Amino acid sequence: MPLVFACSASHTPGITAWPEAAPKKQRDAVLGAFNKLKEGLKDSGAEVLVVIAPEHFANFFLNNMPAFCIGVGTQHMGPVEPWLNIERKSISGDSAFANTLLQGCYDEGFEISFSNELDFDHGVVLPINFLIPDGRIPIVPIIFNALCDPMPSPKRCFEFGRVIREVADKNEKKVAIIGTGGLSHWPGEAEHGIINERFDKQFLHDIIQNDVDILLNYSHDKISSSGTGGHEIRSWIAVAGAATMWKPELLTYQAINAWATGCGFVSYHCPNNF
Ligand SMILES: [Fe+2]
Repeated sequence: MPLVFACSASHTPGITAWPEAAPKKQRDAVLGAFNKLKEGLKDSGAEVLVVIAPEHFANFFLNNMPAFCIGVGTQHMGPVEPWLNIERKSISGDSAFANTLLQGCYDEGFEISFSNELDFDHGVVLPINFLIPDGRIPIVPIIFNALCDPMPSPKRCFEFGRVIREVADKNEKKVAIIGTGGLSHWPGEAEHGIINERFDKQFLHDIIQNDVDILLNYSHDKISSSGTGGHEIRSWIAVAGAATMWKPELLTYQAINAWATGCGFVSYHCPNNF
């Protein structure tokens, strides 16, 4: 079956950890976007959800930092943060599809890492808590490095998304994909709290225009202007690579000071549906 659903979403922990800190209007916009994504995922009939999320020093550290690592286990755990206001629990993985995807990546020149034991933080758990609250769809997590140099380039991330799409299109199951993270933020930095709205809006414009040349040429320095956390948008570029020729729709953008993050949400529409 072909890929049936694609989206990108911010995962700032304030969404569940300190929701009341944000103005109601902004909070409702974020929750409304997650609800639309949940409904879209449900309507797509997806049987497995690939989650591309950045490392936050939950699984990998400076002694071993893979560019990409796919979780091939049948069960995962998360979140690691007891303060996230999301119950820690076992999360079903799709080991069969994960291994198919892993082999497909090797076949296409992506010798990514793999793990049977991943412990998720908010980067994975927060979005799936909204998208699949009943846990009825197993996930295939892909953790990537957006923490320390060198990071996989936008070109490499886009190409990685294309490979995921190719493997998905050949698979029997209906596959969905989500990229999580961003937009601009400086977590744990002196600049914490700054939101680069100009960058965020330009990036969202480029995503919505689906302009591949522009997306591929986002430089490391340019992304750095959106903060240390801004590098997480590489997951969005991977999704753009998976959903080439689909029509992206901006659900909402909110620069939420209380959550110290520019929060964006984009859903992609399959050509057959628009
Ligand atoms: Fe993050």
